[in-house]
Parts: sequence; structure tokens; C-alpha cells
Amino acid sequence: MTKALQAIRGMNDILPEQTPLWRYFEGTVAGLLDGYGYGQIRMPIVEFTELFKRSIGEVTDIVEKEMYTFEDRNGDSLTLRPEGTAACVRAVLEHGITGNGQPQKLWYIGPMFRHERPQKGRYRQFHQIGVEVFNLAGPDIDAELIALTWRLWGALGIRDAVTLELNSLGTTEARGRYRDALVAFLSARLEQLDEDSKRRLQSNPLRILDSKVPETQALLIDAPRLADYLDEESRVHFDGLKARLDAAGIPYVINPKLVRGLDYYSKTVFEWTTDKLGAQGTVCAGGRYDGLVEQMGGKPTPGVGFAMGIERLILLLETLGQVPASLARQVDVYLCAIGEEAELAALTLSEQLRDGLPSLRLQVNAGGGSFKSQFKKADKSGALFALVLGEDELAREVIGFKPLRDQGEQQQIAWAALADHLASALQA
Ligand code: HAM
Repeated sequence: MTKALQAIRGMNDILPEQTPLWRYFEGTVAGLLDGYGYGQIRMPIVEFTELFKRSIGEVTDIVEKEMYTFEDRNGDSLTLRPEGTAACVRAVLEHGITGNGQPQKLWYIGPMFRHERPQKGRYRQFHQIGVEVFNLAGPDIDAELIALTWRLWGALGIRDAVTLELNSLGTTEARGRYRDALVAFLSARLEQLDEDSKRRLQSNPLRILDSKVPETQALLIDAPRLADYLDEESRVHFDGLKARLDAAGIPYVINPKLVRGLDYYSKTVFEWTTDKLGAQGTVCAGGRYDGLVEQMGGKPTPGVGFAMGIERLILLLETLGQVPASLARQVDVYLCAIGEEAELAALTLSEQLRDGLPSLRLQVNAGGGSFKSQFKKADKSGALFALVLGEDELAREVIGFKPLRDQGEQQQIAWAALADHLASALQA
């Protein structure tokens, strides 16, 4: 027997019973972003490998061990995008979108790919909604991005379950000075460091700050603090952000160890975390990347953004019981037609109904069947009403109208009056 084909580990099908919640989530976010004046951009899923190496950083976990990289038939090295910021910056540069110095507020949605160890909330193909803003350097826009996510958590009913963690990484120069101090401190205690941190000491020492190893964390208690190395400009920027969040009543905690796993950040970094999902508790994360556009060949252009993990937010909605009840029903009306003549009339009638009521969710029975079996299907569909068309109804140009969810009586409705009758029944 041939082995059944399976999806790749960590890459999931999203089944019809799950998609209503995805669409609700995506629609809520899209509506909100429209309201704040963000325009959608769609980038390819595959890019030259070089793009991610140059932006995310050669010595990050993502680039070192998580990318899906392959050679195409031309011998070019391509990579399935592990995140969206790099491709978005590439796209705005390529199309000269940011070159005029005008503010640009963009968002995107789609699958990202990272070869991580799959577990609850962590997948190899996962989906993000990301937002990127260019040509705005002040803390006002950082605050807007955070306010926007805060509003989203409110709309979704999950505000109580998430915490905003905030830090400032300072300018590249300030971070460089801090990096030297940290390396000097840790080099003097090299034998007490775990293996992973020893390796990072050369390549990416700031990542040692968020090491999960307790001994390393104990060692870091007396280590130099990033906050003490912040330059004046970054300090003022960070104070400006905090003042705005305070004024807007958005709660946050300062996490001096928050450094993020991608190299392009400077100044503001933030993560929205939850303790309701186990180990994979970051549902949305981002920060400022003022040097990235220039580093990728453009003019100096401030940038700031974030991305949220859709799977994690869907899991959170389910965990908290915040799935709207209205999503349970996907069909309003089920039309049963018994006999060939009735089936013919059913198509015409159903198309007329769709003309008159464009948002009606009408399922027409297909595949024939007895009255009884069609009724069973109507009930199972979740529809509120069944319409019944048999020989009798056909002869009199009426249709049986039966409420399925309460005790209402079946009625006979004239075809001409059906659309109006349905519209008011569905509104009730
Ligand atoms: P990131 O922290 O790598 O940042 O990912 C953002 C979010 O994507 C995470 O907080 C998480 O919710 C979700 N996520 C990441 N990896 C996985 C995974 N393997 N499975 C499920 N969900 C995952 C970025 O990607 C940056 N591009 C964000 C950004 C935009 N910064 C500035 N602009």
C-alpha cells in the first residue's frame, strides 16, 4: 500500500470549521487599520536569501538555523520569508515609496516560515499581520501603534489577558557602547556562562540577556544595564512614548531585558505577552528600526512596526472563550426541493432570492434525497429556516417556510413575497 501523504510537520491546514474565526479576526484587524489610515501592501512569499541575511542579521537564530532556503533552477539562493519587515522595506525601496520623505503607513498579512521545533503556538508555517511605518521618527507614532493594538485587544475582548512589555535599545552607537561593557563583564565570568551564551558572547551578546538558563540569569543581576547606556536622544524619545501611553491610560511594564531576536531594532522595542498560552506567550511584537532602510541601500529613513501571530491570537480567543457566538452559524436558510420539477424551480427561485438579498446565506440542497433526509441536512447545517418546495407548492407557486430553531409553525409563502418575508424573519 502506498503511504498516505501528509502535510509537513508544523504546517497546518485551516479547516472550514476554523476559518470563520480566522476571517472574523482578520476582518476586525483590517477594519481597525482602515480606521487609522494604513494601506495594505502584498509582497511575495519568496525573496533572495541575501535580503534576510542583511536585514534580520547573520547571527540571529532565524538566519542561522530557521530559514527555508533553497536554490531555484537558475542557481539563485531563495528563502521562504521568515517575517515581513525585510520584504516590506525591500518593496518600498524598490518602488520609491519612501523616497520623498512623506510618512507611509503600511500593513500586510500572510504566511511566514521558520524551521523551529513545532509545539502549541509555534509552527513552521504561521501567519502574521504586520504593520510598518516609514518617515516618522517621533514617539507619537510608536504610541499610535501601541494604541491601535490596545484598541484591537479591546475589540476582541482580550485586554485583561495581555501585558505590554516595553524597552528602549537606544541608538546603534549607544548599543555598541553597552555591548562592549556587557562583553567585558561576561568575559571576566566566562566559565560561569552556559554554552549557548558563550557562543553568543562573540556573535550577539545582547541576546544573552533573555537567556532562559537560571545560572546565566543569576550572573546577569550585577551586569551593566542597558538603561544606563542610553543616549540622551533615545532617553527623550522613550520618555515621550511613556508619557503618551500614560496619558492614554495604556498600561505597560518596562522590561530592561527585552532585546528582541532580530538585529534591526533601535530605540523602542515592545512585546504583548500573555500567560494563558504556555511557553509561546508573545502574541504581538515589534519596535523601531531607524537604521534599516539605509542599511539596505536607501536614504536614511526612520521606521517602526510590529507583527502579530494570528495562530496565537486565535488560540487566545478560544482559550478565553471570546469567540463570538454568531460565528457558530454559517447558514441562514436551507432550501429543500423534492422531485425533478421542484429542483428546476429551486435553482431559479434561489437565484432570485440571492438577487434580492445579497447577504443571505442560502444553502440549496444538492444531491436529491427524501423529505426526511433533506430536513436532516437542513437541521445539521445550522440554518434558522428551511424552505420546502415539493409538487404541491410548485403547483400553487408557494414555498413551505419552516422555522428550525424554535416552535414556530410552518407557513406557506407566495414566491413573490418570499424575499421580504425572509428579510424580516432574519431580522427578528
Ligand atoms: P517576531 O517577534 O519574530 O517579529 O514575530 C512576531 C510575532 O509572530 C510573534 O510575536 C509571534 O506572535 C508570531 N510568531 C513568530 N514566530 C512564530 C511561530 N514559529 N509560530 C507562530 N507564531 C509565531 C517579527 O517578525 C518582526 N518582523 C516584527 C516587526 C515588524 N518588527 C517591526 N516591524
